Amino acid sequence: MIITDIIQKKKEKIELSQDEISFFVNGYVKGDIPDYQISALLMAICLNGMNEEETFNLTMAMRNSGDVLNFNDCNRKFVDKHSTGGVGDKTSLVLIPLVASCGVGIAKMSGRGLGHTGGTIDKLECFKGFNSELSSKEFMRLVRNEGVAITGQSDNLAPADKLLYALRDVTATVDSIPLIASSIMSKKLASGADGIVLDVTYGSGAFMKDAKSAMQLASLMVKIGKKAQKNVSAVISNMNQPLGYCIGNSLEVVEAINALSGNGPDDLMKLVYTLGSHMLIMGEVVDNTDDAYKLMQNAISDGSALEALKNIISAEGGDISYISDTDKFDKAKNSYECICHKSGYICHLDALKCGHVAMRLGAGRIKKGDKIDLSAGIILNYKVGDYVKPGDKLSTLYSNYDITDDIISDFKNAYIISDNNQVNEKLIYDVVN
Ligand code: URA
Repeated sequence: MIITDIIQKKKEKIELSQDEISFFVNGYVKGDIPDYQISALLMAICLNGMNEEETFNLTMAMRNSGDVLNFNDCNRKFVDKHSTGGVGDKTSLVLIPLVASCGVGIAKMSGRGLGHTGGTIDKLECFKGFNSELSSKEFMRLVRNEGVAITGQSDNLAPADKLLYALRDVTATVDSIPLIASSIMSKKLASGADGIVLDVTYGSGAFMKDAKSAMQLASLMVKIGKKAQKNVSAVISNMNQPLGYCIGNSLEVVEAINALSGNGPDDLMKLVYTLGSHMLIMGEVVDNTDDAYKLMQNAISDGSALEALKNIISAEGGDISYISDTDKFDKAKNSYECICHKSGYICHLDALKCGHVAMRLGAGRIKKGDKIDLSAGIILNYKVGDYVKPGDKLSTLYSNYDITDDIISDFKNAYIISDNNQVNEKLIYDVVN
């Protein structure tokens, strides 16, 4: 086979065979095919798409490029969760301990934040000592003994995706539904869960800007999962405004601890319970949504969900004294209070703008490997639909850098305040399964 023939075919919108897809994936991982040829192919895929069969074959070729874990010898079902990303999205920090405390096994590989989106691994590193780079052996040992573990992406898991994703990032080829679906599903299928619950976000702070494209991405991922004989559901959720009230790593960790202690914001808890009920049903702990909600609400009120967070953190070397004393998290040196100057309803609070501002405050990284400031970020006091008046403190920005007028003015642009409360957006748009 010749790589230029494969590029030519995709350029002419001709379907690629399973062998051709395996050839370019394996050739790239082995270093036989150079970046410039794979870049050309990725751009052709981005422009001309892939059908379901090609996307499935690409997913399986990437999955098979490394280890494929399984927990079949454990006496419980394993369910994984993945979000396509957002701003203020601390769902996993609440959901994973909650669902684990209800008896579902979880072997979770999580990522770091990139650009305006946050990542669970950065948040977990707010706990001093937390080891986010477990070896595969240590990860498997913890999963088997504790029933739950969270770690960073192992090098041996879907290495083809790691290489392709890095190339997509610098060749403007991230925003392709077949490439996103195969990237996410290859990692999920390699990490050995029996079931997968996807949170597919749409809106200004998400990859998918509208609900229609989120639905397309979700149905494609569900189809790929089913074809690979996994149970998969996708919840389509709105990311036009940040989730919860906190954006930035340690600020979000505190919000997640409060949520596990029974004081979570409504939007975050709604998403957590929706995703959690799918996970409990897939994990065969309950067989209906009502029982799932009751079990999760009990786990929060009797303290077992918070206890599960402590167990996860301490099993991976983290200092759990931060959970009972959240004042111990490092504080940023500088802060700025954003005061409201007009009365009306907040009808827009742009997630992307908030994410970009949080990044400039130090909470996010522009490129992989950048160092981030775990204490930087934003605390919002009001969300879309709330009535505000002059003098109200809308939010506070935190940073160890100077909080410049330019940052403040960009942040103020995230808000639209109007006389009418005209917004009627649902947090959960739909469920695909
Ligand atoms: N997340 C991934 O893991 N891959 C993508 O392509 C996009 C988001």
